Amino acid sequence: MTDLLDHAKIKSAINQIEFNPLIHQSKIVKFCRENNIQLEAWSPLGNGRLLSNGVIEPITDEHQKSPAQVILRWEIQQGFIVLTKTTYPQRMQENAEIFNFTLSLDEMKQIDKLDQEKHSIWYDKIK
Ligand SMILES: NC(=O)c1ccc[n+]([C@@H]2O[C@H](COP(=O)([O-])OP(=O)(O)OC[C@H]3O[C@@H](n4cnc5c(N)ncnc54)[C@H](OP(=O)(O)O)[C@@H]3O)[C@@H](O)[C@H]2O)c1
Repeated sequence: MTDLLDHAKIKSAINQIEFNPLIHQSKIVKFCRENNIQLEAWSPLGNGRLLSNGVIEPITDEHQKSPAQVILRWEIQQGFIVLTKTTYPQRMQENAEIFNFTLSLDEMKQIDKLDQEKHSIWYDKIK
């Protein structure tokens, strides 16, 4: 990315990285923020693995939102675009309804603690 910024005629505008509560990729996130490059999260729900997480559950009760909505909200509150996937139209609708509530700083920090730098199943396929 440094080479691109130094030499490309057109500056990178966006970087799509694997990002969800289990994998924060802090170094590249910091680099993109410092260089004004928009971040986009792939596997924002950890490929579905995060949906029954014990930390997320009490936060869903507090806001009357689903686990998917809480996780996607945690991501957009950090300025990410989220590239989530579902095969169900009703879940697509649900996943879009994340702009009418706000997670508190304490809730954001609770979810932050889930970081394990753990890749999803996709990672092995694209390596
Ligand atoms: N740039 C790259 O290198 C790269 C690599 C991998 C993937 N990607 C992109 O990222 C996209 C998303 O990756 P991903 O599939 O791992 O995404 P994800 O959004 O983290 O996980 C999708 C899983 O969550 C489930 N899900 C989604 N919304 C839900 C909801 N509201 N309630 C319950 N379950 C829900 C889906 O199941 P159902 O379908 O059954 O709802 C599916 O099993 C892919 O489509 C791909 O385009 C990019």
